[in-house]
Amino acid sequence: MYCRHYGFKKMPFSATSDPDFFFESDSHREAYAAIEFGISQRKGIILITGEVGTGKTTLCKKLLNRLEKNVKVSLVLNPYFSDMQLLQAIVEDFGISTQKKNRLEIIKTLNAFLIEQHAKGGNAVLIIDEAQHLTARQLEQVRLLSNLETSDEKLLQLVLVGQPELIENLSKYRLRQIRQRIFVKHKLLPLEENEVKQYIHVRLNDVGKKNQVIDDECYKIIYEFSGGIPRLINMLCDRALLMGYVREKSRLDETILRDSIKEIA
Ligand SMILES: Nc1ncnc2c1ncn2[C@@H]1O[C@H](COP(=O)(O)OP(=O)(O)O)[C@@H](O)[C@H]1O
Ligand SMILES: [Mg+2]
Repeated sequence: MYCRHYGFKKMPFSATSDPDFFFESDSHREAYAAIEFGISQRKGIILITGEVGTGKTTLCKKLLNRLEKNVKVSLVLNPYFSDMQLLQAIVEDFGISTQKKNRLEIIKTLNAFLIEQHAKGGNAVLIIDEAQHLTARQLEQVRLLSNLETSDEKLLQLVLVGQPELIENLSKYRLRQIRQRIFVKHKLLPLEENEVKQYIHVRLNDVGKKNQVIDDECYKIIYEFSGGIPRLINMLCDRALLMGYVREKSRLDETILRDSIKEIA
């Protein structure tokens, strides 16, 4: 709505995660490198944790575009399923159709698919976002899937992505097998203060404006409010742009930022 006022091509700070706006922070780059390494080594489970809003889902979506073509990916974004539905969702996202509805048949079909990928020199990855919602049983089930192997290599690489509670969930005694199989771990951190400005610029650049829209003094306030969490940065910038539009300003200044924070809080 305020796009025309500022001359934006689209909303720069919308709430949905849009991989077009990807900003590679140090922590995102490290997470990506850790995942890529883990996948290529075929040695075990990759665990990515991070607080709400740090960019976990964005990272998952980015992975889809960035992994090499011979890596087949199944991405489960919302694992609020029964055990059977989870299995079906995993298999369907690989593009495998399963007529049969029983567990054993589905696993057999998946295994055949994985062996075929491996024979072609490819790899397969299962990424589960919001993995803190998986029950102990489901975690055990995905561990078993990631155990499918040839004589020396795992056929399915597993990336579990979730909020910090995921670590707590995994610390249960009966999940020690999955815990022992974790090969790479990375915690996604909020942006550093200097990254906040770059992050905002990437987004403004993408909608056709550089840094003419925000006064320099604002970045510190945005960092203090958000603690570097991208979701909170988006929320504040979006609100401030709206307020600037209502007040017929062409730039955001300290007053608008502080007033927007009062409205949000
Ligand atoms: N590295 C990034 N580059 C660009 N935008 C990001 C980045 N990380 C997070 N965001 C944005 O922040 C918001 C929250 O990100 P999201 O991936 O949904 O976080 P999480 O899944 O950790 O809760 C989204 O609007 C997303 O577009
Ligand atoms: Mg998410």
